Amino acid sequence: MATIRLGDIAPDFTADSTQGMINLYDYLGDGWGILFSHPADFTPVCTTELGTAAKFKDEFDKRNVKMLALSVDGTTSHAEWIKDINEVQNTTVNFPIIGDEDKKVSHLYDMIHPNADDNLTVRSVYIIGPDKKVKLMITYPASTGRNFHELLRVIDSLQLTAYHKVATPANWEHGDDVVVSPSIATADAVNIFPKGVVEVKPYLRMTPQPNI
Ligand code: BEZ
Repeated sequence: MATIRLGDIAPDFTADSTQGMINLYDYLGDGWGILFSHPADFTPVCTTELGTAAKFKDEFDKRNVKMLALSVDGTTSHAEWIKDINEVQNTTVNFPIIGDEDKKVSHLYDMIHPNADDNLTVRSVYIIGPDKKVKLMITYPASTGRNFHELLRVIDSLQLTAYHKVATPANWEHGDDVVVSPSIATADAVNIFPKGVVEVKPYLRMTPQPNI
């Protein structure tokens, strides 16, 4: 079992998927990626999640994030399940789902938490940067479907803070003011952020989002 932490290189793999064999690094190219696991096929919460994910694909595309789902059943089963998802969610699943019957990828990414369930994955989310490093990990139990608005929100934060010396405060949404990185002195911040810097406390300086 692998232990993956933020900043680690995301382990590469080649696996079968609903769109044929996929090599993770080739699939991601030089863009961002989101790898998210599903406990099993033909399960209710996963059905809603995958339909919702398909409806959000344009938003992931806009952010240059490739989507890759995984479920521990095989791709023949996935193909049948996708018909149901498309029907009940009124969508078209338009990204690959890895078939992981041997649980190779699930174990590589520590997606099976035996004290939760021996055989099914939890709902893991890995966001991988263009440098192939893990930028974010979130883990939900099988009983809780993910919020795809939140996944886009954290991607916006990750992409903003990767290229600007800022951090995003609690409940930040794209367009809100951001926090100046603690590593920057206020005297320098006023030059780096021409839209203005407000010093609430010497350690808490706010500035308008720099990339809009
Ligand atoms: C579901 O997707 O609905 C689900 C899967 C496994 C356990 C519980 C719920």
